[in-house]
Amino acid sequence: MFSSKKLAGSMLNQIRPHLQSSSTGGSIVNQSANGLLLKTRFPEIGMRRASTIALSEEEKHREEKGGFGGSSAAAGGNKDGPEQNGVASYWGVSPNKLVKEDGTEWKWKSFRPWEAYEPDMSIDLTKHHKPTNMMDKFAYWTVKALRYPTDVFFQRRYGCRAMMLETVAAVPGMVGGMLLHCKSLRRFEHSGGWIKALLEEAENERMHLMTFMEVAKPKWYERALVIAVQGVFFNAYFLSYMISPKLSHRIVGYLEEEAIHSYTEFLKELDKGTIENVKAPAIAVDYWRLPADATLRDVVMVVRADEAHHRDVNHFASDIHVQGHELKESAAPVGYH
Ligand SMILES: [Fe+2]
Ligand SMILES: [Fe+2]
Repeated sequence: MFSSKKLAGSMLNQIRPHLQSSSTGGSIVNQSANGLLLKTRFPEIGMRRASTIALSEEEKHREEKGGFGGSSAAAGGNKDGPEQNGVASYWGVSPNKLVKEDGTEWKWKSFRPWEAYEPDMSIDLTKHHKPTNMMDKFAYWTVKALRYPTDVFFQRRYGCRAMMLETVAAVPGMVGGMLLHCKSLRRFEHSGGWIKALLEEAENERMHLMTFMEVAKPKWYERALVIAVQGVFFNAYFLSYMISPKLSHRIVGYLEEEAIHSYTEFLKELDKGTIENVKAPAIAVDYWRLPADATLRDVVMVVRADEAHHRDVNHFASDIHVQGHELKESAAPVGYH
């Protein structure tokens, strides 16, 4: 049994790191891995809601304006920006304040400056895995068959098409990553980095969606369709990955080849002027580190490069299985964009 003195001592030890970290109020400037200049401001009061600590006038003012990061610097009315009211953290887990190279505040809560990147635009967009065996042919024709109804449904509405299909594209990486995660736990073994690589792919696809939903707003029946399709596709891909990861990765490889084709068609429509080449969404400018005057065309170009990377990752994963190996035996292409 703990005595009350011991218990108090133990509790003090638990909260001491918070108290110590809270005493280091101020800011430092770091150079991130990708060369971006980051200014990190540590919380000045880690236990902001502790009843025994009175808030300074400045703190009160900041909280009234919206808690952490409650500045009005965000523009564009994006819901991810700091203009939304946050909840002050009693637990000292408030995210650090970040600024960009130009000194302006980093306004995205959902991703951080070090997750932004410049895609490798030199990637070969024409690469194609020639279906050779029965499995390849099945995967190839399954994807081709799926293309037909999507062509009929979307016609030439490429903005809407991109937004809708990205809701599906972000599923396989998450399902594959989740299943590999569970396998790693079950078997007490490393994953070779494949969990991370597949989850990165899922996140990258989700950021495509976060971008395209700024360009094309989903209608109520499109939202309903996404719910239905996700219900079917998540379970179908889950089962498929359990039964045959090599087939599943091959199917995704071919889906990515089709995505490259669709984005090429999107670019043609932009060049013809049938789709207006509007200003790039702010989230895209920050995520892909695009110039401030970037347009939708620039966004489609970088998204298409991403899809080419996903194509390579998934065909590679399938090839590893086809050659009789497990994914963990080959180092995963983590950070491959
Ligand atoms: Fe995508
Ligand atoms: Fe993709």
